[in-house]
Amino acid sequence: MFELSPDTRVADLWDESPAMLAALKSTGIFKEGDSIDVTIGDLCWDVGLNPVMILNMLAKARALDVPSTIDVSELDDMPLIEVVENVASLHHDYLRQTLPEIAALLARVVDAHGDSDERLLEVSKLFGKIAGDLEGHLLHEEESLFQMIRDMEKAGVIQPTRCGESVAGPILCMENDHNELRHDLARLRELTGDYAVPGFACPTYRKLLELLTVFDQNTVVHMHKEDHVLFPRAKEAQAALAQGTGTNSAP
Ligand SMILES: [Fe+2]
Ligand SMILES: [Fe+2]
Repeated sequence: MFELSPDTRVADLWDESPAMLAALKSTGIFKEGDSIDVTIGDLCWDVGLNPVMILNMLAKARALDVPSTIDVSELDDMPLIEVVENVASLHHDYLRQTLPEIAALLARVVDAHGDSDERLLEVSKLFGKIAGDLEGHLLHEEESLFQMIRDMEKAGVIQPTRCGESVAGPILCMENDHNELRHDLARLRELTGDYAVPGFACPTYRKLLELLTVFDQNTVVHMHKEDHVLFPRAKEAQAALAQGTGTNSAP
């Protein structure tokens, strides 16, 4: 893992840290399409910012990064359109099934233990936000990015969406959503002590923590697949289409 300093290049973040890259983009000093060979120091000095502020922000974002041990090699030889179907079936369908189940269990556990376990109220509020955000995120991703990829791969065309005429538009929105979700998941882990089961927990409470653990793990893998495989390959596919070389297969 590289050292964070004013000499750190955006290219270092690009390869290793989607959370830091998203945090950098949120400042507006680095935009999609800018050269990634520039250093953090140069980006800051160009607009009169002290790099220390930005580096502190990036250091906090780094803690939210997905561990690099996640193995998504199953996607390596998969055509791009199958990567979309893999994400949709293993993660989007899963979320649509599990989010209401967790919400129902959470309501029961809050009813039973909310008076004696104050953290439950905050967990319930936070989970409600996460579930609402995810509902919008899944729909947005499917209606914009996934559809654009299907159009490219099946018909060799790009249909504009509400996020513009390039896959980079929805990808930027998705990266911002992922970044917020990483913050929310980190807070959920903090509130639940990494989903530790309290001694007094009833079977429903235990089941809730079990489902939350799986939800967290599935979501981390979901974002990793999109940040590290789907998004870069969608950009490559659009570039190939623009150059007339097309791509309907794995790299
Ligand atoms: Fe997704
Ligand atoms: Fe996503």
